[in-house]
Amino acid sequence: MAEGVHGDIRKFRIEDIHKILEIEQQAFPKTAYSKDLFIEYAKNCPDGFVVIEAYEEVVGYIIFDMKGHIHSTAVERSHRRKGFGKILFRHALKCANTQLRLEVRSKNRNAVAFYKRLGMKVVGKIPDYYETDDALVMVSGQSESGQAFRTD
Ligand SMILES: CC(C)(COP(=O)(O)OP(=O)(O)OC[C@H]1O[C@@H](n2cnc3c(N)ncnc32)[C@H](O)[C@@H]1OP(=O)(O)O)[C@@H](O)C(=O)NCCC(=O)NCCS
Repeated sequence: MAEGVHGDIRKFRIEDIHKILEIEQQAFPKTAYSKDLFIEYAKNCPDGFVVIEAYEEVVGYIIFDMKGHIHSTAVERSHRRKGFGKILFRHALKCANTQLRLEVRSKNRNAVAFYKRLGMKVVGKIPDYYETDDALVMVSGQSESGQAFRTD
């Protein structure tokens, strides 16, 4: 992470929706989540839909549930590689307090590299999980006792 980069994490608020949709469209132009789906997530994962603010605006988000499943995360393109994705990921790890798990497109090399850098490991593959791609199943590491460990 770039030295001195700081972001404030807080729960998603409905007034964030336009910025979230902008970040989403940039990150996933062909498969962006809809406004309705984000609102559904806000209802179903009230503690696990969080945004990160920096430079007086929302620069990224993560959605996870308390079973440790990461549903989605994205950082605004102009603010990537500054450490915001890592801050969001660590927040999820701390809040869920269990092993994290996710599916990621096998062709999304950037995301796979990002998750590996944060200690996630590929444990499986689901063929044709996405319309045009397989999913890699990734989980955060575990200690010998089976407890999830922090990657920081
Ligand atoms: C994946 C994503 C969220 C990462 O966010 P980010 O803010 O750029 O990530 P960070 O700056 O916090 O990087 C954390 C670590 O991962 C590494 N990393 C990040 N992007 C990487 C990439 N494209 N290739 C290799 N390593 C990468 C960083 O170097 C950093 O390592 P460090 O701790 O040694 O410095 C962002 O690239 C994004 O929004 N992508 C589009 C949406 C997406 O693919 N989401 C994930 C699938 S759901």
